[in-house]
Amino acid sequence: MFVERAELGETTSQERRDAAQPNSRVLGRVIQCDGARATLTAFAGGDRAEILGQWAVGRMISINLGTIRTVGLVYRIETPAVSWDDNELYPISVHVELVGEVRDAEGGRPVFDRGITSYPYIGAIAHRIRARDLEAVYDLAGRRGLTIGRLSQDESIAARISIDDTLNRHFAVVGTTGVGKSTAVSLLLRKAIEARPDLRVLILDPHNEFSVAFPEHSIRINTQTLELPFWLFRLEELAEVLYRGREPVPEEIDLLRDLIPLARQGYRNHSAVTVVRRQADAGITADTPVPYRMADVLRLIDERMGMLETKNDRPFYRALRIRIDAAINDPSYRFMFASRLIDDNLHETIGRIFRVPHEGRPITCLDLSVLPSEVVNSVCSVLARLAFDLAVNSHGRLKLLVLCEEAHRYMPADPRLGFAPTRHALSRIAKEGRKYGCYLGVVTQRPGELDPTVLSQCSTVFAMRLANEIDQEIIRSAIADSSASTLSFLSSMGQREAIAFGEGVATTMRMKFEYLEPSLLPGSARQDPGEEPVEDGEIDIHSLVASLRGTAGPASAEPYGLGAPVDPHRQAGDPPPLPPEKRAPQPEERLRRRFGDDDPLRRLYE
Ligand SMILES: Nc1ncnc2c1ncn2[C@@H]1O[C@H](COP(=O)(O)OP(=O)(O)O)[C@@H](O)[C@H]1O
Ligand SMILES: [Mg+2]
Repeated sequence: MFVERAELGETTSQERRDAAQPNSRVLGRVIQCDGARATLTAFAGGDRAEILGQWAVGRMISINLGTIRTVGLVYRIETPAVSWDDNELYPISVHVELVGEVRDAEGGRPVFDRGITSYPYIGAIAHRIRARDLEAVYDLAGRRGLTIGRLSQDESIAARISIDDTLNRHFAVVGTTGVGKSTAVSLLLRKAIEARPDLRVLILDPHNEFSVAFPEHSIRINTQTLELPFWLFRLEELAEVLYRGREPVPEEIDLLRDLIPLARQGYRNHSAVTVVRRQADAGITADTPVPYRMADVLRLIDERMGMLETKNDRPFYRALRIRIDAAINDPSYRFMFASRLIDDNLHETIGRIFRVPHEGRPITCLDLSVLPSEVVNSVCSVLARLAFDLAVNSHGRLKLLVLCEEAHRYMPADPRLGFAPTRHALSRIAKEGRKYGCYLGVVTQRPGELDPTVLSQCSTVFAMRLANEIDQEIIRSAIADSSASTLSFLSSMGQREAIAFGEGVATTMRMKFEYLEPSLLPGSARQDPGEEPVEDGEIDIHSLVASLRGTAGPASAEPYGLGAPVDPHRQAGDPPPLPPEKRAPQPEERLRRRFGDDDPLRRLYE
């Protein structure tokens, strides 16, 4: 073996060592190669980390084949030595995965190609990859690029993604809690709305953390400010609310399926709603998004209850009635049953949520943090459905990204978990959305618990540190290309670090997200000044109880708790509250609107 001992102890710089090739400590030789991998032999010695470091796992190296340089990624290194002496050189084996080839185009510009046309021969020389070659490996070849961080291997090189391919073909960010997923998403979205001014983003935000990350570009909607009329809900979504996430009673659902279309038809035709009409016109079903009055449904129930043939079913009628009453009187459902929502002002409601016009704030953060789970389920289902339908009906003019934090909650791998309509609506976006400009971004710390078909629709994945073996396996199997061994790093990556792979990048890329300044970090990540501990005596139990009841201050006097919304969660950047005439009609007016002028039920409530 040729060991150039003369070099030991030399103090020349790394660059001069490179120049003074051959150098047994900076060069390796190919000693084995199959179709996808190669083994190099090299020597290691001394204690100079920057020299020893070039053969470290995760590094790209290049194998010189004359006009072509084969690029390899180190995934394992070893030496038979059992002890170490800084004055010795030891043979080492370096196992690399072949990633592709660089060749010099005209003008000497290096160009990278995935795939290998000539395989390294035994004895071919391997060395540290040149920075220019490394840049070529990650070059987006003319696609519109965004810099989101730096390469882990060489911080002087920008980590760039193709923003169009990342969005249009859906993306996922996975990684253990605390590695920086939410921050990475904030960073991505920030850059995305800048590069794509036509983009709208709806964030399903279970921890209420994103609105502070986009103070000037987002609006925040919570139950106090959300308006989503119940008549937009499909039967199964409404049932989720009425039955509070429990199994609905089939007889009662059958009843609703009969009666809601009648009520819808009555509203549409301005005709009296009566049970005599047994069937609504074709084209109106319980799911058709035509407004109706819940009071009409209640009256239909009462009428039917009075009929002879329904004698045995009366308990179902009664139970259903009580259920509906309970829901419309529940302050947590005010956002769907508030009286003004019966008027058909869908364009306003939808325009606000989906930011049309966006008024400089293209992002909506839907704060789900205080909502009961059955409400989260149905609201997410309605909104995901609307997002898709809007995109379809806009013929591609509206570009809409639905971003799901904690996506495994909505689209769990186990089909028995989760809420079927939400899962259905989101997976429809995943499967067909790209055709219409409706995109999905999923974020999860448990990819193993996420519906695998959804993950497989995400063409770009940012895999951050994953501790769990099953989760790692899921991501490994999602990477089709040859750099699968990159993923052996999944368990050991640092904060902000990610392996990006798929359509949005040129080549699987180990990178570190840019540093996001503390004032722009998503909420859970930082101390909210409003959440500083308060002295014991300063807590006002009356206002606490009032807000528990969904009533606060003067509004508590009004009958259904449907009065002026009180928003203890208002934050800077929230849209101004609705004008008073829209927000809180007088009780009289409210009853008239909800029940109609001639409604006997109205008297009951007056
Ligand atoms: N790109 C980044 N820039 C600055 N700080 C970061 C970045 N990524 C992560 N951090 C830090 O890590 C913490 C956790 O990040 P976060 O995005 O909340 O993680 P996750 O969503 O994965 O639980 C943040 O509070 C922040 O301090
Ligand atoms: Mg997070």
